[in-house]
Amino acid sequence: MAEKVNNFPPLPKFIPLKPCFYQDFEADIPPQHLSMTKRLYYLWMLNSITLAVNLVGCLAWLIGGGGATNFGLAFLWLILFTPCSYVCWFRPIYKAFKTDSSFSFMAFFFTFTAQLVISIIQAVGIPGWGVCGWIATISYFGTNIGSAVVMLIPTIMFTVVAVFSFIALSMLEVTVVTTERAKHFYNPQDIPVTLYSDSDEWEMWKHRSDPVLHIDLRRWADLMLVAPLDANTLGKVASGICDNLLTCVIRAWDRSKPLLFCPAMNTVMWEHPLTAQQVDQLKAFGYVEIPCVDKKLVCGDQGLGAMAEVETIVDKVKEVLSQHSGVQQS
Ligand SMILES: Cc1cc2nc3c(=O)[nH]c(=O)nc-3n(C[C@H](O)[C@H](O)[C@H](O)COP(=O)(O)O)c2cc1C
Repeated sequence: MAEKVNNFPPLPKFIPLKPCFYQDFEADIPPQHLSMTKRLYYLWMLNSITLAVNLVGCLAWLIGGGGATNFGLAFLWLILFTPCSYVCWFRPIYKAFKTDSSFSFMAFFFTFTAQLVISIIQAVGIPGWGVCGWIATISYFGTNIGSAVVMLIPTIMFTVVAVFSFIALSMLEVTVVTTERAKHFYNPQDIPVTLYSDSDEWEMWKHRSDPVLHIDLRRWADLMLVAPLDANTLGKVASGICDNLLTCVIRAWDRSKPLLFCPAMNTVMWEHPLTAQQVDQLKAFGYVEIPCVDKKLVCGDQGLGAMAEVETIVDKVKEVLSQHSGVQQS
């Protein structure tokens, strides 16, 4: 196998330094993590560009009569934070997604939280700290409007970096797996997140080294929600059948992670003795039932069998997630 040659950062030939890292998103990162990894990479780039723009802002500050300290510090932050943020938080998340390493995830969350705190301090902008944040910029409007306008640009950029870092840290990633029959009930274009179906499983796997989608999905997810769980899939899951992407993910599910299911079917199907047996079987596997409710069903019948209200489902997911993260931390 050809040895991978380091390609990052891409340095021009006349610089006597060699790239220190190998970076190839498509080759290294499993498809379900690709967009998240790229978004974090773009955030790292935005952070670096902001530090460069901050240097220009501090130059304008200097020209407008401010001290040289800010300019000197701005230069230091640029050459220090650009490689440090790459090594300290982008590389860990790249490695975490590449190798599914919980240590790298932990390292990322630790250093990325520090990055968020630094971005907030930069956006605030204490004069003398080498950053054009809000306090430094607004207070300079009274001294030199031209310099203050230039300083406003990095200030806005620091704020954007802080907001995006906060969103990245608090974001839940959702992926939807659909059955072929379920496709009759919605428009795929209305699904705002990644949507996988049976064809993806088979299109992704051509050779031995290719990703196996149902295994990658079960590794990636911290929680699985099956909503609605119809009578057909309920029967399959209870007896271990796995003949599509959804039932394969469920069959391969690591039972130390939560799996929640929301039964939904016609009242007579619900009242069939098989249903209670199969629901009990799923509960015996450790899966959590979000019970169906009594209401007028789409078919016109009135009675038990309607899927729980979305609000009930969201509340239950939040409750189970917080319990589970508590168990993992302890
Ligand atoms: C309009 C319509 C609505 C349906 N609603 C339900 C339902 O709410 N619950 C259910 O168990 N089956 C329902 N079915 C039957 C399922 O679609 C059928 O069992 C299908 O094979 C399920 O496939 P899947 O489990 O692979 O998604 C419905 C069928 C149709 C045509």
